[in-house]
Amino acid sequence: MKKQIGILTSGGDCPGLNAAIRGVARAGQQNFNMSFIGFLNGFRGIVQNRTLRLENKLLSGILADGGTILGTSRDKPHRMPIGGKIMNMIDAIVENYHRHQLDALVCIGGGGTQKNALKLQEAGLNIITLPKTIDNDVAFTDISFGFDTAMSIATSAIDRLHSTAMSHNRIIVVEIMGHRAGWLALGSGIAGGADVILIPEIPYDINHVSDTILTRAREGKNFSIVAVAEGAMSIMQAAKVNKLVEKKNRAETKGEKILASDQLKNFHRKHVSHTMELTNKLEEFTGLESRLTILGHVQRGGTPSSADRVLATHLGTACAKLLNEKVYGVMVAADGDGTKAIPLSQVAGVKKLVTKDHPWVNSARLVGTSLG
Ligand code: F6P
Repeated sequence: MKKQIGILTSGGDCPGLNAAIRGVARAGQQNFNMSFIGFLNGFRGIVQNRTLRLENKLLSGILADGGTILGTSRDKPHRMPIGGKIMNMIDAIVENYHRHQLDALVCIGGGGTQKNALKLQEAGLNIITLPKTIDNDVAFTDISFGFDTAMSIATSAIDRLHSTAMSHNRIIVVEIMGHRAGWLALGSGIAGGADVILIPEIPYDINHVSDTILTRAREGKNFSIVAVAEGAMSIMQAAKVNKLVEKKNRAETKGEKILASDQLKNFHRKHVSHTMELTNKLEEFTGLESRLTILGHVQRGGTPSSADRVLATHLGTACAKLLNEKVYGVMVAADGDGTKAIPLSQVAGVKKLVTKDHPWVNSARLVGTSLG
């Protein structure tokens, strides 16, 4: 009997998803007598029973393609907008899993997907996950695919911004994705030689950033590149967030907890425009003309780097082996040159953030980069 395996991609897309789908399905078909069915647009596809048979022919030529042939969404199994209402669709997912007589479901996604996958494992399904994200914030894996490509895109953007900043004697603030983690801004900031790198894990002092830029100007370097993570915060903003987090943790009743968590969400929603504010303040404080460049979704698009293709293929093929050994309820993590299976219960809800003494932080400081 052939084993029936489902696959879906969930959360924000990233380069390397197709390489991972191909890695799991090719290895499973060619070595372990498995047959694969894809579900479209994340967890919504398994709710709505929208499928794509992953025949061998369909897997040809997708290795170098960006995005995902399965489509994706940020839908959560337990809180899915259906007909204007938010519904728990876990039972519908369980039903369709059995309708297709699946032996297991592979969920390829970032931090949110690990949490959602655990919910399905707890509902009695056989689940295995792969870590993807340009943010590199999935815990217990050395790295996630998508990150290397995004870091290269952001680095070449910083390279290009240098010549225009230099020609106009300007400060250019470049906003880099990463959600609440600073990996992408830190990595591309180091690789692109940014003069200032601001990340969420190290709150910044605007006066200190201005002083760094003015010191450069006094030394005859009358331009500066500031690489800022979208989630970066000033010392005051970080203090506000800490207060809201403490309030949420202290809240005794459910009602109070919901209120505190809404206030926190609201803060992050409003924080979206903070890089414009930062750019304006730097112009005001230094007297130097300033511009903002938001790299946005360009960082998630296009063909994966060779490192991401290798990583996605490596994790995908390791996943096929684990499926064959009936190892479920785990995420396939990158571990040095190898892989390891980490229980979903351990990964779910944990974020990998930049530590203040991370070797990348030390190297940035040692070459004279200001971290705010
Ligand atoms: O998680 C990947 C990511 O690109 C983050 O860096 C960013 O904050 C978010 O997704 C953007 O999400 P969306 O594509 O839904 O706007």
